[in-house]
Amino acid sequence: MQSHDSVRPVRWSAEGLRLLDQRRLPDEEVERLYTDYRGVAQAIEQMVVRGAPAIGIAAAYGAVLAARDCLPRGRAAWEQALDHLNAARPTAVNLAWALRRMAAVPLVGETDPVARLLAEADVIAEEDLAANRRMGALGAELIKGPVGVLTHCNTGSLATGGFGTALGVIRQAWADGRVSTVYADETRPWLQGARLTAWELLRDGIPVTLLADSAAPLLMQQGAVQWVIVGADRVTANGDVANKIGTYGLAVAARYHGVGFMVVAPSSTVDMSLPDGQAIPIEHRNADEVLAVGGHRVAAEGAGGWNPVFDVTPAELVDVLVTERGVVHRPDAKGMAALFDRDKVRHRSGQIDQ
Ligand code: MRU
Repeated sequence: MQSHDSVRPVRWSAEGLRLLDQRRLPDEEVERLYTDYRGVAQAIEQMVVRGAPAIGIAAAYGAVLAARDCLPRGRAAWEQALDHLNAARPTAVNLAWALRRMAAVPLVGETDPVARLLAEADVIAEEDLAANRRMGALGAELIKGPVGVLTHCNTGSLATGGFGTALGVIRQAWADGRVSTVYADETRPWLQGARLTAWELLRDGIPVTLLADSAAPLLMQQGAVQWVIVGADRVTANGDVANKIGTYGLAVAARYHGVGFMVVAPSSTVDMSLPDGQAIPIEHRNADEVLAVGGHRVAAEGAGGWNPVFDVTPAELVDVLVTERGVVHRPDAKGMAALFDRDKVRHRSGQIDQ
């Protein structure tokens, strides 16, 4: 494993799928074993595993477990199980992408279809790690440091097959001496920044400074950061970006203060079938996540809560989109098509759907 990258949230073993329970971090490192696809769907829904690419990888292995159970009853039973997995969370397109890719594996005449599907899930995981390393190199090159950077949510090894998307760029830039200070938003209400990003960075020897989400514009006003670097759950054909709630506000503040806004996402997060971000389904979770902190209710009894967990940043606020296929400056429909329209061609010719 490369230096500054020691965590793996999703692991296949002979017994089944092992997921590091991200609800328990940083207090406890508990790995849970899943031998049934329904359990994997529940783990995605309950955020045992989270982060767009990690959700996709877990679902791919969930499809292997589903094949073991359902294929003996026929392909239709397996496809129903894939639909069940697909319904676990709506916003991160990596989930549907990974399941479509598993469904596209040719199984007719295959003597051991489960083994063939397991090989495909392994490839999805390996490709994600390779994409992250590539994006890390491409994104780090854009940082003329050493400078302060701010990130949001958790986009690291915990959220991916390893290394991370936005956090991969930060890891690489840190290793290259381009980053002087990593600031991380705590990321209310689920505290991915405080619990996960801080844990993961410190474990890999990278110092981190946490701030309340609402402190980010002041940090920018004081000139402490030159880049805001975030991941994505879905990027549409015009370059709009769905990501963790709070990202849109960071983009607005960054533009106002002349701070660069970088989005880092693999091609598995790009959804060229949607024209713009208005069409992205935004997940709303239980209001209790807002009314409580760490499971302890803090809101006045009787208060209601509103809990959209993603927002959409318009493309015009994005300075650069970094993907493993290349970098799109000031993304728009033309820039996105130049890198991703070939997927449409592949789709029309009946190959892998994107
Ligand atoms: O609700 P989560 O924790 O799954 O949300 C995760 C994010 O919003 C990440 O920024 C995104 O998935 C990119 S992760 C590489």
